[in-house]
Amino acid sequence: MKRDMREGYEGTGPGAITPDGCAVELYARLPVGDEPDVIAAAVPAGARVLELGSGVGRVTHALLERGFTVTAVDESAEMLERVRGARTVCTPIEELRLDETFDVVLLASFLVHAGDAEVRRGLLRTCVRHLAEGGCVLIQREGEEYHTNVPRERVDPAGFTVRIVSTEPVGDGVDAVHAEYVFPDAVWTQTFRSRPLTKEQFEEALEEEGLRVDRYLTQDGMWVRAVAAATGD
Ligand SMILES: C[S@@+](CC[C@H](N)C(=O)[O-])C[C@H]1O[C@@H](n2cnc3c(N)ncnc32)[C@H](O)[C@@H]1O
Repeated sequence: MKRDMREGYEGTGPGAITPDGCAVELYARLPVGDEPDVIAAAVPAGARVLELGSGVGRVTHALLERGFTVTAVDESAEMLERVRGARTVCTPIEELRLDETFDVVLLASFLVHAGDAEVRRGLLRTCVRHLAEGGCVLIQREGEEYHTNVPRERVDPAGFTVRIVSTEPVGDGVDAVHAEYVFPDAVWTQTFRSRPLTKEQFEEALEEEGLRVDRYLTQDGMWVRAVAAATGD
């Protein structure tokens, strides 16, 4: 069954658009960055990874190549159709209930900044529910100036430009973010809701769901290793 667009999220571009406004065709063209290096350095070799919001498998495929086993979860069937070599599960992350746990749960792509705090709680609960004893949750959060250094753009060597065009408060501490991905032959625009979280607010949100920060993995504080608060590391 096809899911409706999430409220406050929309996208334009060729082909299928996901409920959070991603143009699948154009997303599939984005190269992987340093994410697999950051992840591989923070977890045991060969770990079993649950990747939440995997998209087309941009990071999934790089993790598989490094010898990890990956279960890829996304609510977009069109995204998951492009994932190769991993088990896929098509569902909203908040509703995921697998009867197993994982060494590593990955919640990347700033999903923890969901505009709806109840959605964020649901995402984090899914992380906790699927975490093996002694395992960790790796979270990618926004950089410090994500909402203030606007407009900004980055020209990617792969031949496209990403622009954060505007961020506009829509109430309750949430911004509507408007982004553009410009390729030589096509444009993808996305509007989505994002809740800025200071380091303290982020750590509080984790605590609420029984997680604690073990350590920040990158100097910019964007990648975080969290563990179950009760059991320690
Ligand atoms: C911006 S893309 C990132 C994909 C992938 N993490 C990457 O870095 O290439 C976000 C993906 O998460 C999925 N997504 C967003 N919110 C979701 C939710 N609550 N449940 C399931 N999938 C979700 C979208 O369908 C989309 O494929």
